[in-house]
Amino acid sequence: FISFRLCFILFILFLFVLSEHIRVIGGSVTVVQEGTAILSCHVIDTNDDLTQITWQRRTREKPHNDNFLTILPRDGPQFVNGGDARFKYIGNFNNKNGTLQLSNVTLKDEGSYTCIFTLFPSGNQKTEIPLNLLVPPFTNVKDNLPTLGTEEVLFATCTAAGSKPPAEVRWLTGVLRDKMRTTTNSTHYDNGTTTTVSSLFGLPTREINGHQVQCVISSDSLTKETLPFNIQIYFSPTEVNIRVITEDSFECVTEANPNANFTWSRSGQALLQSAVKVEGAKLQLLSLTSDLNGLYQCEASNTYGSKHGQLFVHYHLASGEISLDLLIIYKSILSVWTANCYHHKISMLTCKLRIINFCGVRCFPSHGVGHSDPPSPRSAGDNHRQEQEKLQHVARSVTVNLKRCYTQN
Ligand SMILES: *[C@@H]1O[C@H](CO)[C@@H](O)[C@H](O)[C@H]1NC(C)=O
Ligand SMILES: *[C@@H]1O[C@H](CO)[C@@H](O)[C@H](O)[C@H]1NC(C)=O
Ligand SMILES: *[C@@H]1O[C@H](CO)[C@@H](O)[C@H](O)[C@H]1NC(C)=O
Ligand SMILES: *[C@@H]1O[C@H](CO)[C@@H](O)[C@H](O)[C@H]1NC(C)=O
Ligand SMILES: *[C@@H]1O[C@H](CO)[C@@H](O)[C@H](O)[C@H]1NC(C)=O
Repeated sequence: FISFRLCFILFILFLFVLSEHIRVIGGSVTVVQEGTAILSCHVIDTNDDLTQITWQRRTREKPHNDNFLTILPRDGPQFVNGGDARFKYIGNFNNKNGTLQLSNVTLKDEGSYTCIFTLFPSGNQKTEIPLNLLVPPFTNVKDNLPTLGTEEVLFATCTAAGSKPPAEVRWLTGVLRDKMRTTTNSTHYDNGTTTTVSSLFGLPTREINGHQVQCVISSDSLTKETLPFNIQIYFSPTEVNIRVITEDSFECVTEANPNANFTWSRSGQALLQSAVKVEGAKLQLLSLTSDLNGLYQCEASNTYGSKHGQLFVHYHLASGEISLDLLIIYKSILSVWTANCYHHKISMLTCKLRIINFCGVRCFPSHGVGHSDPPSPRSAGDNHRQEQEKLQHVARSVTVNLKRCYTQN
């Protein structure tokens, strides 16, 4: 027990002696690239004479510890192997202060700096100051331009390039969390920086189109950065529908991403510039004459493809007034046809007959058609369904006949 106590006293004495010893005060410095580092260094607890301050460095670029700057009381700071204006001596020789300022710090400067005080009579005293660099990453989100499909694809990549220390990159997908998958990949470079890439995968469906997600990048060298990303699923125009705006103006409607461009043309003939007005998706017939009769085509296209819709215009004189027969050919002919009949407040039978008569072909079972008013969209039930089925049947035969009709003309 006594010997332990003795040891303890000796230890305290030892500490006391140490604190009495000359010390060079330095520290470590962490600075963001292109910033300014203060390599502070001074000597305390000595009355010795200071004859010279020497700075050495060992950096990534110069792995050997070399003198690069000496400071003498009369001559001031002198570079040893070529100057570097970024270094500035900001200490004070008389105060035994060797502090250096280094501006516009780059990765090449990272390393260890040693300041050495040459004292008389005690000799050299030194300390090492590690200089540590932070490099903020270059960040970006790259859209991989996914197209509509049924298999998982890469939507986008989020990159934090050249970061030191490595950045954390992650996706915030919110409500889409269960529908998305992410992977993260890092590449380390010799200069100490790291590039981190996080990829976002998912099923390229129509529902996911337009959803907003975020890529969050955090690192010691950067205040947290949030990059929003709007998921876009690209697709060529879907079915092209022609909407009847008024009885002489029509609009071509489709879904596409990016938005489709529309081109109106007339089958077999040039568009009559004086008789029609085309404005983007819209076609307006300026005069109601039979000169305009014919088949019009609207082509919707974007970089992913194109589709077209057709409009048949036929004006004819009946019972002393001009009426318009138009048939808009869709894949889903029924819905449009029905809509047109509603639009023109024509009874279903008249509507059907006009279409059939137009081609002069009767080929649907005549017994199936009787006088009836347009079914009200609100009247649900069997009647409505039956009517729909009948219409569907008629529509199918009409489509076939009209195709024949067009190929004949
Ligand atoms: C040494 O010099 C630097 C720069 O002028 C100064 O900031 C620092 O306080 C000085 N240190 C001492 C101990 O005087
Ligand atoms: C910092 O250093 C880089 C590379 O040496 C140089 O291109 C840049 O102009 C410098 N910037 C300043 C503010 O001195
Ligand atoms: C990570 O990126 C590197 C370089 O781009 C590539 O060679 C490697 O295959 C990637 N690893 C994964 C798991 O994606
Ligand atoms: C680090 O090295 C990488 C790969 O050579 C390079 O792209 C990057 O610009 C370097 N970073 C710095 C800060 O020099
Ligand atoms: C659509 O029209 C715009 C403007 O006229 C044009 O810049 C673009 O290239 C067109 N796109 C396609 C796919 O034709």
